[in-house]
Amino acid sequence: MREPEANSVIRNICCIGAGYVGGPTMAVVADRCPLIQVKVVDINQKRIDAWNQNDLSKLPVYEPGLDLVVSRARNRNLYFSVDVQGAIAEADMVFISVNTPTKTKGLGAGKASDLRWVEACARQVANFAQGHTIVVEKSTLPVRTAEVIKTILEAAQTSHQNDSNSSTFEVLSNPEFLAEGSAIKDLEEPDRVLIGGESSEAIEALASIYKNWVPEQKILRTNIWSSELAKLTANAFLAQRISSINSIGALCEATGADVREVARAIGTDSRIGSKFLDAGPGFGGSCFKKDILNLVYLSRHFGLPEVADFWEGVVELNTWHQHRISRLVVKKLFGTLSGKRVAILGFAFKANTNDTRETSAINIAKDLLDEGALLSIHDPKVAPAQIALDLGLEEMKPSKSFGSKSSGTSNEGTWWFSEEISEVCSGADAILILTEWYQYSQINWIEISKNMRNPAWVFDARSIVNSEKVLSAGLQFWRVGDGSAEVR
Ligand code: NAD
Ligand code: UGA
Repeated sequence: MREPEANSVIRNICCIGAGYVGGPTMAVVADRCPLIQVKVVDINQKRIDAWNQNDLSKLPVYEPGLDLVVSRARNRNLYFSVDVQGAIAEADMVFISVNTPTKTKGLGAGKASDLRWVEACARQVANFAQGHTIVVEKSTLPVRTAEVIKTILEAAQTSHQNDSNSSTFEVLSNPEFLAEGSAIKDLEEPDRVLIGGESSEAIEALASIYKNWVPEQKILRTNIWSSELAKLTANAFLAQRISSINSIGALCEATGADVREVARAIGTDSRIGSKFLDAGPGFGGSCFKKDILNLVYLSRHFGLPEVADFWEGVVELNTWHQHRISRLVVKKLFGTLSGKRVAILGFAFKANTNDTRETSAINIAKDLLDEGALLSIHDPKVAPAQIALDLGLEEMKPSKSFGSKSSGTSNEGTWWFSEEISEVCSGADAILILTEWYQYSQINWIEISKNMRNPAWVFDARSIVNSEKVLSAGLQFWRVGDGSAEVR
C-alpha cells in the first residue's frame, strides 16, 4: 500500500446509502485512506446494525474479502450510523449512493429511474451541509441528473444567502463499476475511476482520494454528462454481450453447434475479447435491466426511437431466454410438471453474492411453479425468507414422504429450501443449475443419481458440471447452448 496522500483537502466523508455499493466502496476508501474519517449513513436502522455487529460473517452484504477490510477500518476511521444530518454537517464531501430503481408508476413508469431517493438526499445535503461541500453522485443516474441536484443545492444557497454560515456546493459524477461477488477486488484494482465535473479543483480533490491506491493513468476526467452516460453505456454494452451470446446459444442448440466453442473462437479475436461470453440462464442483478431501460427511456425522450428499440431488444431477448429455459425443462419432462419435483441449485443472480435482485431464478422458478412443479431450492448464501419474498410465495416444508421417490399432487406449485444439496436433490425428477456456485461443479453424480426418480434429468444452465460424469451416472443431460448434447 502507498503512503496516504497527506495533502488531500478532504478530511471528512459522508456516504448516504449503506447498500451493496456504499458499504463496500466506503470500506475500501477508509481502509486505503486512514487520514480520512468516513461515515456511512442510512435510514435503514437494521442495515446499519448489521454493519456494526461483531460477527463479520453476518454483514448485510456478502462479498469475498469484505470482512477483512471492514475489520481493519471499522471504528478506526470507518463508521456506520443513522445520523444522516450529523454526518452531512461534518463532511467536506458527500457521496450519494442510494438506490435508483425503475419507476413503477407515473411518467416513464417501467423504464425511467425513480429519483425520489436521490432528490431526498440532495434536499438533506442542502439543509444540513456547512461551509463548502463537494457532492458526488455515486449512484447510477440518468444523464443530466447532476442538473437536478445542482438546482436543489443552489436553491438552498439562495435561501441561506444572508446566513453567517452560508454553504456552497460543487457536484461531481463518479459512477461505480464494481461487480458483485468481486467488489473488493474491483474497488482495490479498478480498470478505471471515472470523475465527471465542471470544477477542476473539486475533480482533483476527489482524484486525490483515489490516488492513495489507484494509479494516476487510471483516473479519467470527463465532463459531467459524459460520466453519467458512460456508466449507463458500460452496463448496456456488457448486458448486450450476454444477450448476444445467449441468442447464439439458442441457435447452437438448434444446429448441433456448441456455444462454448463458438465463444472461444470469437473471443480470441482481440477486437471482440473473451470476457462476458458465458452463455447462462440470462443476466440478472439490480442494474443491467434498469440501466438499459433508463437508456431506452432517455433515447425516446430525446426523439431517438430507433436507438431506444435497439437497446430494448437486449432486455427483451433476456426475458425470452429465461422463459425459453423453463419451457425447455417442461418439454423434456414430457410436457408436464404436475406433481414432479425439480431441484433448483442456486438462486443468487451470480456466484459469490447473496443478492437475488432480478435473478433469472425468479422468472424460471415462477414458470415451473405455474406448471405445477414441486421445487426444492438450494443456495449457499441466499436465505429462504428472501426467496419467499422474491417468489411472492411462502415456503412449504415437505411432509416426511416428500423425500421419497413417489410423487404426489398435494404439494403442486410449492417450494421448500434446504442447506443440503443432497437433500434438495433427493426424490427429484430433475436438477436445474441456475447459479455457478463452485460446489455445484463438485457434485458426486453417482451418489446424487441414486436417490432421483428415473428418468432423471440434469439441466445445466451455467455450463459448470462435467457432462461425462453426469451421463455415466445414468442421468439425462442438457447444457445451455450445447447442440452436441441435444443430438447425443
Ligand atoms: P441498495 O439498495 O443496496 O442500497 C441503497 C441504500 O440507500 C439502502 O440501504 C437505503 O436504505 C439507502 N437510502 C435510500 N434513501 C436514503 C436516504 N434518503 N438517506 C439515507 N439512506 C437512504 O443499492 P445499491 O445496490 O448499493 O445501489 C446503489 C446505487 O449504485 C444504484 O444507483 C445502483 O444502480 C448503483 N450501482 C450498483 C451496483 C451494484 O453492484 N449493486 C454497482 C454499481 C452501481
Ligand atoms: C454489473 C457490471 O459488471 C458492473 O461493472 C456494474 O458496476 C454493475 O453491474 C452495476 O452497475 O450494478 P453485476 O451485475 O454485479 O455487475 O455482475 P456481472 O458480473 O456483470 O453479472 C451480471 C449478470 O450477467 C449475472 O447474472 C451474471 O451471471 C451474468 N453473466 C455475466 C452471464 O450470464 N455471462 C457472462 O459472461 C457474464
